[in-house]
Amino acid sequence: MPLNIIIGAQWGDEGKGRIVDLLSKQANIVARYNGGDNAGHTVNVAQQTFKLHLLPSGMIHPHTIGVIGNGVVINPVVLLSEMESLRAAGIFVNPKRLLISYAAHLITPAHLALDQAIENAKGKGKLGTTLRGIGPAYTDKVARSGLRLSDMLNVDTFAPKMVHHIETTNARLTKLYGAEPLDAYAVANEFVEYARKIVPYIQDVSLLLTDAINSGHSVLAEGAQGTLLDLNHGTYPFVTSSHPTAPGALVGLGLGVNCVDRVYGVVKAFQTRVGSGPFPTELDGDVALQLRGTGENPWDEYGTTTGRPRRVGWLDMVLLRYAHRINGLTELAITKLDVLSGIPTLKICTAYRSDKNTYTNLPFGITDLASFTPVYEEMPGWEENLWQARSWDDLPHQAQAYIRRIEDLSNVKVNLVSVGPERDQVIQLG
Ligand code: IMP
Repeated sequence: MPLNIIIGAQWGDEGKGRIVDLLSKQANIVARYNGGDNAGHTVNVAQQTFKLHLLPSGMIHPHTIGVIGNGVVINPVVLLSEMESLRAAGIFVNPKRLLISYAAHLITPAHLALDQAIENAKGKGKLGTTLRGIGPAYTDKVARSGLRLSDMLNVDTFAPKMVHHIETTNARLTKLYGAEPLDAYAVANEFVEYARKIVPYIQDVSLLLTDAINSGHSVLAEGAQGTLLDLNHGTYPFVTSSHPTAPGALVGLGLGVNCVDRVYGVVKAFQTRVGSGPFPTELDGDVALQLRGTGENPWDEYGTTTGRPRRVGWLDMVLLRYAHRINGLTELAITKLDVLSGIPTLKICTAYRSDKNTYTNLPFGITDLASFTPVYEEMPGWEENLWQARSWDDLPHQAQAYIRRIEDLSNVKVNLVSVGPERDQVIQLG
């Protein structure tokens, strides 16, 4: 039995949580492999809305085992509080149901303070990070000075390592950024307490997952953020510091390439982005308001983690084709098709123009997007509310044509379409 991977094919917030929720029904194990609590996965089940930032959202299904891989950076405060909130909702969380890689890195208060200080120092040129300490934690990892969960296994050596980490970061905070230093001993004491609670969950995730796959279990890798935010392949420097792509799942879980079966690209029926960076099809005005919503509903386009209003725009097929190339998608899951109801004419970006040249692929990846103008194709919209649609035939023909056009332009089959925020508001085509 295989590894199936769910990735975001845009700039994050594609609605991966609900697709994970759906596909978790058939999975034995659900695994997070990148990012940290900068992610926000929302799943609506009956009257309850679950917003998870760090734990795999597939854990909401009682039969699954949750895994956090080595590619993830972990703020223990968030980890422990999410474990508690799941327990409070009646969901079982114990070391048999949640396994965390010894090689995952820790996010500390020093990383949080650095994230804030670096953004402040950038002023207008800031990246618009989630301020969760993600970039500084990965920076320490690459600099080979980070703290891993395995460091927690020995409390006697963990405390001095933490003191050293805070003191060296204090030097940067105060000298480079004029920020306040942290109390190294207080942080170390706090983290020793967290270690006592977290140590029972620490495992060799790579070994466990490989054994599980070899003995016929099905693993679902749950990506956070999206391809266009990937450190290597995204709109650098307006990216996150991890690898939200399908190959990132292998690196972030310690798995070989031979176990991959399907790669689901989750794509919103339009485009959104939160934070700074280029966005060729960005809209303002009435259509933008309709796409974004007012913020009154949990499914409106406001960040799950930061509450920031998201930037919105027309679907960009140049970028979706690029995401297909980077990930090797086997199918698409289209989310929020229902939000397009009532827009008389829909636009899809099929190519870019620059200096009288038209591009369907970009010459140097997606770094220099700001210099391109989108080329649009128009399609008739539909009036009907889609919330009750449960099959292909329930969709208005204009919505069917929109989906078929996405398939034609991306060269990837659409397998799932979501038409509302609830668990059952999904059409399965495959
Ligand atoms: P960081 O990941 O907090 O360092 O933020 C870097 C960039 O990635 C910023 O533009 C964030 O808004 C964006 N970002 C990080 N996580 C998410 C996410 O889960 N959804 C959408 N954007 C994200």
